[in-house]
Amino acid sequence: MNLRFLTAGESHGPALIGIMEGIPSGLALDAEMLLAQARRRKLGFGRGNRQAIETDEIRIVGGVRRGITIGSPIALILENKDHVRWAEIMRVDPPAGGEPAARQVHVPRPGHADRIGGIKYARDDLRDVLERASARETAMRVALGTVARALLAELGITIASRVVRIGGAVDDTPWRDVPPEEIDASPVRALDAAAAAAMVREIEAAKEAGDSVGGVFEVVARGVPVALGSYAQWDRRLEGEVGRTFMALNAIKGVEIGLGFGAAARLGSQAHDEYEPGDGVRTRYRSNRAGGIEGGMSTGQPIVVRAAMKPIATLMRPLDSVDLRTGEATRAHIERSDTCAVPAAAVIGESLLALALADAVLDKFGGDSMDELRERVAAWERTVRAR
Ligand SMILES: Cc1cc2nc3c(=O)[nH]c(=O)nc-3n(C[C@H](O)[C@H](O)[C@H](O)COP(=O)(O)O)c2cc1C
Repeated sequence: MNLRFLTAGESHGPALIGIMEGIPSGLALDAEMLLAQARRRKLGFGRGNRQAIETDEIRIVGGVRRGITIGSPIALILENKDHVRWAEIMRVDPPAGGEPAARQVHVPRPGHADRIGGIKYARDDLRDVLERASARETAMRVALGTVARALLAELGITIASRVVRIGGAVDDTPWRDVPPEEIDASPVRALDAAAAAAMVREIEAAKEAGDSVGGVFEVVARGVPVALGSYAQWDRRLEGEVGRTFMALNAIKGVEIGLGFGAAARLGSQAHDEYEPGDGVRTRYRSNRAGGIEGGMSTGQPIVVRAAMKPIATLMRPLDSVDLRTGEATRAHIERSDTCAVPAAAVIGESLLALALADAVLDKFGGDSMDELRERVAAWERTVRAR
């Protein structure tokens, strides 16, 4: 792993922190770039009011000088504006009188980390679990992914996303390249307007019923160099890294690359991408059913990832649960919550694909400065054209 990162911080704690190691020197980076992506993460019909509270302004406190990375670890801080209302509950130092925290949680929400997290870390107040299991943490993953994305952009690699399903509403139009602002302008970040309207209705109906709804999003990377990753060892396969990165996002329960599960239902003649002679290259692909990865390596075609998000676990009409203090049946805890976060998850997915691809790029090409990296990528492109 060439690009490593860690995040820390609770949902209502003072701040989220991110550290990223492995970004070469000479990459232009500023807080505005981070803010632009942070704002996109708040998008989408069906979010709770937390998004309106947070400004998500990220401070760069390490690894960047005068707008340029210097090869040192990148360090980021994102203050939680909501913390002022939670300062007493989330205080770091012990309370003088030893009084217990307000707003304790003792009834786990089915589908969330509450129950098992409480058992694992021996916490009686499940807030200790939900504060970190919350997807607020993804605000920092998006910031770190934005750094990775800036590196990829320098090499001509771009990443975009869209929502293809919310509950029963599906947008089955094929991917087409439109300006990213056009997709962001859709209330659910879908390409097709009629499908978007049906998706909004799904969210409204779920909200009305005190329920929640999940969906599927698609992330596409273009301009990816040929042969990132490798078939030579299991842990070097590119789809392994991409799959792990997406499965590690909260609430993601399935990941497909290219045809994905759909390939299982097709005959071989309908599932693979045939070659034909190309101009300037020996072979080119007729299709991209593989989604840009074959044999654990990038094919140079767009990488197409789809991820399935389960419905949000916090329901306004709560599910059956048990009060852990008494052992009695009751209704699950209600925490402020989204009804649907699939459009936001799609934006997060862009950062996740950027993180996975930047790692694969640095693995193949290395380089401590952007000049070194750019030269190596250019040399590789010349080699590929000759084969
Ligand atoms: C962008 C985003 C927003 C989310 N918002 C909420 C939320 O408001 N309420 C909630 O209960 N879960 C929310 N989740 C899902 C939980 O974080 C997730 O279900 C939980 O951590 C349990 O993990 P698991 O679903 O991966 O098993 C959100 C997930 C994402 C990706």
